[in-house]
Amino acid sequence: MKRKDLSYLQKSLSKKPYSKKFILLDENTYKYCLPILIENVEQLYGAEILEIESGENSKSLSIVENLCQAMIESSADKESILISLGGGVITDIGGFVSSVFKRGIQHFAVPTTLLAMVDASIGGKTGVNIGEIKNQIGTFNTNTITCINFEFLNSLNKRQVLNGAAEMIKISLLDETLGNKITNDKPWNNKKQGFDYDLIEKCILLKEKIVKGDRFETGNRKILNFGHSLAHAFESVALLKKIDLLHGEAVASGIYYAIKLSETKLSFPKDKAKKINSYLKDNYSIIDIQENIDLVINYLNADKKNINNEYRFILLEDIGKPHINITITQDELFNLKLIDNH
Ligand SMILES: NC(=O)c1ccc[n+]([C@@H]2O[C@H](COP(=O)([O-])OP(=O)(O)OC[C@H]3O[C@@H](n4cnc5c(N)ncnc54)[C@H](O)[C@@H]3O)[C@@H](O)[C@H]2O)c1
Repeated sequence: MKRKDLSYLQKSLSKKPYSKKFILLDENTYKYCLPILIENVEQLYGAEILEIESGENSKSLSIVENLCQAMIESSADKESILISLGGGVITDIGGFVSSVFKRGIQHFAVPTTLLAMVDASIGGKTGVNIGEIKNQIGTFNTNTITCINFEFLNSLNKRQVLNGAAEMIKISLLDETLGNKITNDKPWNNKKQGFDYDLIEKCILLKEKIVKGDRFETGNRKILNFGHSLAHAFESVALLKKIDLLHGEAVASGIYYAIKLSETKLSFPKDKAKKINSYLKDNYSIIDIQENIDLVINYLNADKKNINNEYRFILLEDIGKPHINITITQDELFNLKLIDNH
């Protein structure tokens, strides 16, 4: 299987005369990524630009409404096309708008962050937040085609690289070969030596494979939520308390605790747990779950899969052996510690 790149977008635009072309972006992707996009896809010269402010706060229904309004004012119709040029915030909003505008128009996702390349732009999931609660409204957009160009990665800072690397760690741990490779080599770490494009590519292909087998997340695709039950809770707490926390940083903390729970609930091998969690602690500020335990529990209680103060987590029996729907009690959450033997 070969992933699609900008030449695919170029060919698609040459083949089909879309009535209007829109590019959704934020101020950073306008500056760093739009010139690269236009240089590679000349048909986009003169496309209508829809610019929104960067950041999670833009994932709101009011922004969606503004975007639809702007498209209507520019005479967009069913034959229009929307190209999302940005990180996961842009691909989530663009994916949502294009799936509901006129009941669905063609959408191309052009991810520009590592996180969006390996995760957010793949699989058609879209979402906007309601207040502090993440991704409460969304769709599975089956009209999204993702086109990847690694050149966009060059303008990311180290924090953004680590942000995406957290999702690479997550996806790798779901696969025996990839997971053991990253646990031993930790090749995602070193921006100085350049990106490990081969590993990025493998993560993309693995996500595509998992998603293809379960488009609407009724079964095995749920494993991609490994580390995410707590990550989403941490992100909601951060939004509430106005703390600057990136999605991948929340995921790193989520994986850290999911590995600890995997050790106690599923006998995940201690040596591997130690390696993974020391790496996470060395590279990310792991959130102290007990400092926010009441808010975390409130958030988990709001999720309807969680009943009677018990929670359903995805945990690992070993690298490459995920289990969905493992029951975690409130007491087990209260017993989680940031620092113990790791
Ligand atoms: N739909 C899904 O399946 C899915 C999966 C994972 C995450 N997500 C969502 O993705 C979002 C996080 O995505 P993100 O981490 O990419 O954040 P982001 O979209 O906010 O991008 C991070 C920052 O990098 C800037 N940026 C983007 N590309 C750049 C480039 N090439 N050079 C310089 N700066 C650049 C952006 O302007 C922004 O300030 C969250 O909202 C999360 O919920 C969705």
